[in-house]
Amino acid sequence: MKRMMVAMLMALAMMLQVAAQDEKMTAFVNTLMNKMTLEEKIGQLNLPTAGFFVTGTAVNDNIAQKLRSGHIGGMFNSFSVASMRALQDIAVKESPNKIPILFGMDVIHGYKTIFPIPLALSCTWDMELVEKSARIAANEATANGIAWTFSPMVDIARDARWGRIAEGGGEDPWLGSQIAKAMVKGYQGDDLTASNTMMACVKHFALYGAAEAGRDYNTVDMSRITMYNDYFPPYKAAVEAGAGSAMTSFNVVDGIPATGNRWLLTDLLRNEWGFDGFVVTDYTAINEMIMHGMGNLQEVSALAIKAGTDMDMVGEGFLTTLKKSLDEGKISLQDIDVACRRILEAKYKLGLFDDPYRYLSEERAKTEVLTAENLNAAREIAARSMVLLKNDKQVLPLKKTGTIAVIGPLGDSKADMLGTWTLSGDLAKTSTILQGLQNVGGKAVKVLYVKGSELTDNPAIANSPNPLAMVSPAKKSESNKSPEDLLKEALETAAKADVIVAALGEPSAWSGEAASMTDISLQRPQRELLEALVATGKPLVLVLINGRPMTLSWENQHVHAILEAWAGGIESGNAIADVLFGDYNPSGKLTTTFPHNVGQIPLYYNHKNTGRPMDAKNKFTSKYLDSPNDPVYPFGFGLSYTTFEYGEVKLSKTQLKGNEKLMVTVTVKNTGKYAGEEVVQLYIQDPVASVSRPVKELKNFSKVMLQPGETREVSLEVTTTDLSFYNSNLQFDWEAGDFNIFVGTNSRDVKSATVNWAK
Ligand code: BGC
Repeated sequence: MKRMMVAMLMALAMMLQVAAQDEKMTAFVNTLMNKMTLEEKIGQLNLPTAGFFVTGTAVNDNIAQKLRSGHIGGMFNSFSVASMRALQDIAVKESPNKIPILFGMDVIHGYKTIFPIPLALSCTWDMELVEKSARIAANEATANGIAWTFSPMVDIARDARWGRIAEGGGEDPWLGSQIAKAMVKGYQGDDLTASNTMMACVKHFALYGAAEAGRDYNTVDMSRITMYNDYFPPYKAAVEAGAGSAMTSFNVVDGIPATGNRWLLTDLLRNEWGFDGFVVTDYTAINEMIMHGMGNLQEVSALAIKAGTDMDMVGEGFLTTLKKSLDEGKISLQDIDVACRRILEAKYKLGLFDDPYRYLSEERAKTEVLTAENLNAAREIAARSMVLLKNDKQVLPLKKTGTIAVIGPLGDSKADMLGTWTLSGDLAKTSTILQGLQNVGGKAVKVLYVKGSELTDNPAIANSPNPLAMVSPAKKSESNKSPEDLLKEALETAAKADVIVAALGEPSAWSGEAASMTDISLQRPQRELLEALVATGKPLVLVLINGRPMTLSWENQHVHAILEAWAGGIESGNAIADVLFGDYNPSGKLTTTFPHNVGQIPLYYNHKNTGRPMDAKNKFTSKYLDSPNDPVYPFGFGLSYTTFEYGEVKLSKTQLKGNEKLMVTVTVKNTGKYAGEEVVQLYIQDPVASVSRPVKELKNFSKVMLQPGETREVSLEVTTTDLSFYNSNLQFDWEAGDFNIFVGTNSRDVKSATVNWAK
């Protein structure tokens, strides 16, 4: 009782302190805004890029002049501390009210210490590591002047054709929400004014991952109930974790582009969820509303500000039209004031008014970036993000003796280890698979390497530049070889080896923004190489480097072992070697489903049942003539070098009432030879409800480390929040009745029990 009182008093004291701080901030911003002209207020809403890095056709000019006249609120994707210091100098010394600028950047999976791409990171199922990666990214980026990152991207994606599936946490709303929280916490820390924390920006609000046909920037059409249950949770979780800003998405939501959608940006985000940060558009998203058919630049800019958009990225629609709209009575001064206030508040929260140079530290940039500690973390996280998809006859782990032939166009390619959005990556410090095997293997291992094939013979893909991914300089030794010569070399090299490591997949440029694909299998030259390697009959390990789920039916049938290594970042090569040699026993689990073929897409585990579930013996059931319904690898799937045996699912009670909690217990035994970690996953199903519910939904998990022979009881809690869903009135509640509880090693292979829960 006494302890509860103390806790309540402490919470009250905290609230009072926050209220006092808010009051101070409001007073500061009031005083400042009283001095600002209309033009300056509109200037705060303008976010140009200095043009180093762009994802659209528009770039901005006359930056210095605009800064001087107070026509810029923030800037993004600038690189050096010196250049940002020069820009900040102009803002705080020469602009009318000396308002500092906010520097942003797409720090997506690390600044210089590049971590695995977000999709890979999610496969760690380790929220502490997810948070740690964001913390390190913030530390490095803030040393280099960046106070604001355009991350986390939490768009749920069920379509592997969409290149940006690489940038998110996969297909599951519950896991996606845990990741969203961890990322925001990692970036923002406990104190946003600290010089090594930065403001997060949850994106892309909303539904961007559901672009039709997996084609980037495409239309989204979705029922409200699906939005609330399946797509909104991670954005909401980021808001609840205190994300300081949100970015609109390019797509329409319920017929209206997100950037001009008042229901989305004001009714839902602010009024329903209580978001109190600022909203920035995506790149030229205001201007793009013209193409969406919403009017001319003046009209769409007015639409955006009235909807609740505060800052205009690159498009200058606000800068060039808001005054006119105000003069014509199409918007109010209040609309501009509200947006301007939110941006000034963000700068205040970051401490920029106290010290505009707080995040520009030549000293820290030299000493705190790419440290040995950060690189070790990158290596550990990369190893933990890899997913072992197959391991027949214990081909893996490899022995640290004999000869290993690394064969494939991704075997010695630094840039392709980094993945998309690696604007500030460091190629020189990036390890490749070849280097990793040499570094980790030691003297008794001989490692050979040949390229073996081109990545693709499709010129449309080969010649499509991607400014978001780094490119390794072409190696002279490999250029101008015919496909026949490359294959001949591959087979000669394979003949000398005890084991082949085929390094195949997709280079960094093939996933990320504007990198959608209709064919997500290995491209022809790589597949032909793999077939030839399989035909040698030698032990063969396929190491996949890529940014999206691929179709691997053939590979799964014919290759002995498959390691999904993703684009694992700066320490990729070393981490892959750690896993291949068994220095780290893989524990990653997929967070997206791997289909047999693109025709099955969208394919995701938490689907609804049909009235005619698949029945092979019954023609008139829901299935394909030419393909299974099931994936090659389901959500949650991932093997280990050891094996785990699950006991039966035990429930603390089979009959519960009201807000009681259920404890689900299962024994897990390590039945193999190696120590290893297992992600024990808990799913629920509400089989009878007022709306049709998914066949399974992840609601909890626990990652446990077990020594060979060790048995552990793993307990996982289920609460009524886990049973709750948005019903057809969009009310979040649970409905009494039976619930199926599943526990297992992935979403397919589970054991179950049933509980009855009364209101
Ligand atoms: C992307 C955003 C990114 C922005 C700024 C856009 O094209 O959709 O995710 O933050 O560019 O670089």
